[in-house]
Amino acid sequence: MFDQVKKVQKELDKAIVTTTTELETFRIKFISKKSLITGLFKLFKTVPSDQKKAFGEALNELKKEANRKFQFLAAHLEASTAFSSESPDVLLPSIPFQIGGLHPINIVKNRMIEIFERQGFNVSEGPEMEDDWHNFTALNFPENHPAREMQDTYFLEKYPDKLLRTHTSTVQIRLMEHGKPPFRSIMPGRVYRNEAISARAHCFFHQVEGLYIDRNVGFKDLKNSIYHFSREFFGKETEIRFRPSYFPFTEPSAEVDISCFICKKKGCKICKNSGWVEIGGSGMVDPNVLKNCGIDSKEFSGFAFGMGIERIAMLKYEIDDIRLFSENDVRFLRQFNGL
Ligand code: DAH
Repeated sequence: MFDQVKKVQKELDKAIVTTTTELETFRIKFISKKSLITGLFKLFKTVPSDQKKAFGEALNELKKEANRKFQFLAAHLEASTAFSSESPDVLLPSIPFQIGGLHPINIVKNRMIEIFERQGFNVSEGPEMEDDWHNFTALNFPENHPAREMQDTYFLEKYPDKLLRTHTSTVQIRLMEHGKPPFRSIMPGRVYRNEAISARAHCFFHQVEGLYIDRNVGFKDLKNSIYHFSREFFGKETEIRFRPSYFPFTEPSAEVDISCFICKKKGCKICKNSGWVEIGGSGMVDPNVLKNCGIDSKEFSGFAFGMGIERIAMLKYEIDDIRLFSENDVRFLRQFNGL
């Protein structure tokens, strides 16, 4: 009888537990109702009465010890598995954390805003879904102007007429309709055109529009604004040049070129050996446009300009395919991190 107690005692001493399954086996063997120890208690009635007391004490001691060992093993196992599998090893080198960056279009847009804000311009925005009045009619487009035709514009609805704006000049109109001069605003935003997608053209892109309306604003003020912008954005030695052009909403109108900042006018691939690259359109706001917005053109005058953000970014960073801006290839986008 006492031998059996000793035997179980030995087994209890030897028992090792390293996994939760082994812990459960331990529990069944030494603690549960079907355990070896419970089995020994059942022998109690066969023990001679003069030995019952000693046998009982030995069994109770064995039972207590089994419980103590079980508690100890369970706590130990929990601590070691918590370390090995559930919580990271704090001494391992950390996994590098990838931080996102600004999209190049936003980098260029923010930089343009920053430069024009220092010239006293504020920022205005307008809707991407527009109507014929804001996109064409108020901007003095003749009734049968080719830009109104299907190949350029995404028309959404006929009655009431809805379209995706083809340029940010729409925001000039919204600004002048709803306020009183003077205005000095730049208007960044996305525009849409029904164009075949290629390395040079896309069906959506971004523009920054500029408008300055006040008393006595002249062409010299337009040149001044563009000159300072170009020097700040492209570098101190940048020269500017205005080429006569035509836009329905400006008179006179001009295309703006800057001296090629890559070859310094010596001639290269970017400027197609001309020494100059185009950055946008501009002009003095046509009196008809002012009239359409309820502004007296005898008292107020002003200039406007429009530049493509993709175009400016492509020049600045020597990017040769406009599609890269909208393809979300992180290998392309990552190159602008930290700029
Ligand atoms: N809206 C013109 C375009 O999308 C760009 C432009 C040209 C805007 C001359 C102007 C401007 O404000 O004066 O091609």
